[in-house]
Amino acid sequence: MTHAIPQTMGQQFGRRSWAEPWKIKMVEPLRMISRAERQRAMTEAGYNTFLLRSEDVYIDLLTDSGTSAMSDRQWAGMMLGDEAYAGSRNFYHLEETVQKYYGYRYLVPTHQGRGAEHLISKALIKPGDTIPGNMYFTTTRLHQELAGGTFVDVIIDEAHDPANLHPFKGNVDLNKLEALIKRVGADKIPYVSLAGTVNMAGGQPVSMANVRLLRELCNHYGLRLYLDATRMVENAFFIQEREAGYADKPVAAILKEFCSYTDGAWMSAKKDHLVNIGGWLAVNHEDVFETASNLVVVYEGLHTYGGMAGRDMEAVAIGIEEAVQDDHIRSRIGQVRYLGELLTDWGIPIVQPMGGHAIFVDAKRFYPHIPQQQFPAQTLAAELYLDSGIRAMERGVVSAGRDPATGDHRYPALELVRLTIPRRVYTQAHMDVTAEAVKAVYDAREQTRGLRMVYEPKYLRFFQARFERIE
Ligand code: F0G
Repeated sequence: MTHAIPQTMGQQFGRRSWAEPWKIKMVEPLRMISRAERQRAMTEAGYNTFLLRSEDVYIDLLTDSGTSAMSDRQWAGMMLGDEAYAGSRNFYHLEETVQKYYGYRYLVPTHQGRGAEHLISKALIKPGDTIPGNMYFTTTRLHQELAGGTFVDVIIDEAHDPANLHPFKGNVDLNKLEALIKRVGADKIPYVSLAGTVNMAGGQPVSMANVRLLRELCNHYGLRLYLDATRMVENAFFIQEREAGYADKPVAAILKEFCSYTDGAWMSAKKDHLVNIGGWLAVNHEDVFETASNLVVVYEGLHTYGGMAGRDMEAVAIGIEEAVQDDHIRSRIGQVRYLGELLTDWGIPIVQPMGGHAIFVDAKRFYPHIPQQQFPAQTLAAELYLDSGIRAMERGVVSAGRDPATGDHRYPALELVRLTIPRRVYTQAHMDVTAEAVKAVYDAREQTRGLRMVYEPKYLRFFQARFERIE
């Protein structure tokens, strides 16, 4: 059973507004360049916001990854870095903190999330294997493919519909999963890949009921279940808000319960953990730990730093504690919703329900006259920058890449532009300016033309592809 989704934070928390549980101690000046300079910058960047210089950006909503503001406590922790090559005290602090809040037994530090994805994929996947998961993520799927596996999406159908109001659009469709297990055989499935708040679906959560049933199904077939915990704290907030029996439980307790149904997790600490760099892999099985801690010394660094400086590990450890505080997470998601509500009020099509880390604009409905082969979401991200110097990210056909078997574009149902909100960085006024910019681009939509791809790199093309305007 689930509760109705509150449309505003006010409805959930009564008549009082929420506010950030911090005040600002240091600022970084922003600068907006002229329209002509923005046009020059965009042309030089090949209409790809990843290729812009940050100095030419006014409000940067490209990603919430590594873009958080650290707290005074985290900065103080940076001064306590133990930069020993082996056995740094900060590693043990991080290990204890992950054990305390996530509950996993063994920790392998990595430089960021994809380092951990690389290790788990290499440790567990054999050529010809199948990895089921609740919608792909770009780097996760690529590492699974590079290890010889094939990713198969088993998310519920509602996740592919940007207007569907299902409260847990990240859920696994257990019937799809079971049919897949029967088709390929459990021995061809090294693990099930579960993401907490599904990035590509719009930051949509998985329910506790779903992960519990998923665990039972995995037990029945003898499968392991690993979690992409990158934004799992945000997922825990949605469970507290929407799932019966969790309203009075702290986010930290919900997080730990959820993780207890899984065998381990990989983490991009650059998101939930409020740091600029870092990641880890944590597992319960000793055999997986042994393989991963051997591989980490090949690809990342010694098993007690894995590519992070001692000071980075200290900042992650402190960040984990700050991330799971209820007042932090409520204001973080409250700010995302504030932006989403402004856009909704103006009739701008966005993914509903609003997710945890970003507002996703539905480019198919925004630009119905631009076919998907002309990259409507890429176009919208470029137009937004040209209008206001605001940088967003394409999450559509460019991000989906090509099918390795056929070489054709993969055409995802979701063609989205992500307005990603860094944690503790921007104010409500920045959200107002952003919403007004999206509105201006929306008002000019009928005159807007699509793009043509003129350069395409082999891997993760969205980062480096180049485009030209179709005249
Ligand atoms: N998993 C998820 C769900 C992610 O969103 C990301 C990164 C990763 C894994 C990989 O972690 O970047 O530390 O190597 N997402 C970033 C984004 C890039 O902008 O959404 P990483």
